[in-house]
Amino acid sequence: MGDTAPGSEVVLETSRLVLRPWRATEAAVQRELWTERDPRVPAHRQIDADGHPTVAELEDSIRTHQVWSSGLLAVERKASGDVIGYCGVVDNERGPAGEPELAFELLRRVWRQGYATEASLAVLDWARSSGYERVWATVWDWNIASRRVLAKVGFTETERKEVDPVHGTTLFAVRQL
Ligand SMILES: CC(C)(COP(=O)(O)OP(=O)(O)OC[C@H]1O[C@@H](n2cnc3c(N)ncnc32)[C@H](O)[C@@H]1OP(=O)(O)O)[C@@H](O)C(=O)NCCC(=O)NCCS
Repeated sequence: MGDTAPGSEVVLETSRLVLRPWRATEAAVQRELWTERDPRVPAHRQIDADGHPTVAELEDSIRTHQVWSSGLLAVERKASGDVIGYCGVVDNERGPAGEPELAFELLRRVWRQGYATEASLAVLDWARSSGYERVWATVWDWNIASRRVLAKVGFTETERKEVDPVHGTTLFAVRQL
């Protein structure tokens, strides 16, 4: 988020997790997330026929894109010290100006243990304490797990929808902070 003081690191803690900036050495985890994506996800979010993005490209992205240090945080399990995905907020043009979007993605092997819910609640607290009043989320209609997480952390699905004949319908959900 934009108001993180220069030189200060965002670190959020929950009972089982620490959310903090990505390290370039963890690019392989990001690559694994890419390889595990649902085939219904659009091509620009899938590994292409030539194997891009590569681990090296993702390393470079961690080093150069601020989103990986103060937006979409690495989710590390306290007990095992492994990074299992990301959760955070991004400013984008899909929602109203000044209202960020919540996003999360975790490795398949850790699904259904409540981690996305736990991480999202910490991120929502962080957004609130950073001065935001509302957060958006977008989700494919077929993404039952994500819709369930959003409902569990207090999002309401709105009337707004974007229909894509190939990939499905994007639903817009909102959460007052
Ligand atoms: C969405 C995602 C982050 C959820 O992570 P998670 O740690 O498994 O989430 P939680 O365990 O906190 O909660 C998942 C909920 O969905 C439910 N769920 C999961 N898969 C389901 C399915 N196929 N059908 C019905 N419910 C399902 C779980 O039962 C749980 O609800 P409950 O607590 O009421 O039982 C994970 O599935 C993921 O990374 N998906 C791919 C990326 C993605 O879709 N990101 C979001 C883009 S909008």
